Amino acid sequence: MASDSKKNKNLMEKISDVAARRGIFFPTAEIYGGTAGFYDWGPIGSLLRRKIIETWRNFFVKSEDNVYEIDGSAILPYGVLKASGHVDHFTDPKVECKKCSKVFRADHLIQEAIGRNVERASVEEMSKIIKDEKIKCPKCEGELSDVKPFPLMFSIGIGAEKAQGFLRPETAQNIFTAFKRVFSTMRGTLPFGLAQTGRVYRNEISPRQGVIRLREFTQMEVEFFVDPRQLNNHPRFNEIKDISIRIFSREAQERGKGSDATEGVVDVTAQEAFDRKLVPNQCVAYYLARETLFYTTLGIPREKLRFRYMMPEETPHYSGGNLDLEVELSLGWKEVIGNAYRTDYDLKSHSKASGQDLSVSPLGEGERVIPHVIEPSFGVERATYCVLEHCYREGDRDWAWFQFPPKIAPIEVIVIPLMRKDKLPEKAKEIYGTLKEEGFDTMYDEKGSVGKIYARADEIGIPYAVTIDYKTLEDGTVTIRDRDTVEQVRAKVGELPLTLRKLIEGEIKFKEAGTPQKR
Ligand code: GAP
Repeated sequence: MASDSKKNKNLMEKISDVAARRGIFFPTAEIYGGTAGFYDWGPIGSLLRRKIIETWRNFFVKSEDNVYEIDGSAILPYGVLKASGHVDHFTDPKVECKKCSKVFRADHLIQEAIGRNVERASVEEMSKIIKDEKIKCPKCEGELSDVKPFPLMFSIGIGAEKAQGFLRPETAQNIFTAFKRVFSTMRGTLPFGLAQTGRVYRNEISPRQGVIRLREFTQMEVEFFVDPRQLNNHPRFNEIKDISIRIFSREAQERGKGSDATEGVVDVTAQEAFDRKLVPNQCVAYYLARETLFYTTLGIPREKLRFRYMMPEETPHYSGGNLDLEVELSLGWKEVIGNAYRTDYDLKSHSKASGQDLSVSPLGEGERVIPHVIEPSFGVERATYCVLEHCYREGDRDWAWFQFPPKIAPIEVIVIPLMRKDKLPEKAKEIYGTLKEEGFDTMYDEKGSVGKIYARADEIGIPYAVTIDYKTLEDGTVTIRDRDTVEQVRAKVGELPLTLRKLIEGEIKFKEAGTPQKR
């Protein structure tokens, strides 16, 4: 067990190490020592994130019907977050060491000390557990204080009057407050989706685990507004009903003693999940199937995904059922998407607090209803970390590398002259320029031997390398090297953009990209 956790810790350390060395992510303001919970994304990391976000937009906005995007403000006035319940309830349990003053998140401390999941226990219950189990400060063995709720929102004063506001803790609230206007401007009918990607802020007590737990991060959320009578009648359910999803039911968690047990996951089609009531309604089943497709497109194996039905004590009071998508990482199973059937809680709360009628007509006119909401809520940084960890490869060559799916590879193609002489760089730069013009994310490298450049390219997961040699000058062909197999083909320069596009889109196999070359 000890060696397992060491191995796992090493994997996260390795990823963080490569990430810092190759400009993927690194602590914000690291020249000043950094601050826990804040990370900057370098050139490679930014591109990877951008592609993950774009893949998400393709899946959850562009290919859907009646789903639109908004881009809201990251600062929200007090009233919004009071009505949503965040002002009163959005807290984490904090405990402090009476001797060294170190502060901990109490549920995490208890989990680590005695292996019990107490995520939704009250602060009083946690205080009692700490006393009964004689849990001490992990740093200095000092006595711990009582557990207190700690507000997670960053409070700010707006303007000279310092009107109270907050940095938004989720993107969802902009959507609820904008719903009425956007429904009407888009001449909406139900079901109707509003999506948003953007930064959110949470003053986490003691963030650890790198980019998994941050104080500033990016969410991609959809609020899917449905006529409550149509929750089991998603218009496109037929298209995904046969997709298999892996569900960790409440019963299986109880049998297996809690959320960390890995046995008891059932693999069922979306239709079966709905028929067997493993999900709150059909609209939720629709999203679970789409999320499975999304995450496998990012290169995460299906068997590393599970939807955990949150236990009643973990489920927020407003929710009619939550299923978290969890991905198995070296750190254990981590939540990457929160799926909540939020009922009509949010629209009703905002309607009451603002005095505005937020009911709409499902068909655009006639009778009115307050829609119910299905919310899939994704974290970009967690998705990006999952991709990094699951695409990380070592042991098969002299360097570690990333096997990113070509569609989300930060750099798609690198262009290399075989020699830095005899007009090879000029030709290589010309080809590089053409690929840029054609819209590829591309890179030019002539520093060092071709072998070294291939290794550097593998390290940042570039799927294809184009090498320009003397034959190129004679017959207008280049070699393309495939990152995954290290095989090479010879292809015509004139056909390069189309060939590379087909390779990246997965429309052709590598050996169909040109004439195979002996190595
Ligand atoms: N609107 C619902 C909502 O915000 P959540 O479960 O609190 O739900 C959704 O957050 C997703 O945001 C999570 O599944 C996770 O991917 C990401 N997330 C939450 N807290 C995070 C943190 N401190 N650091 C990084 N990502 C986080």
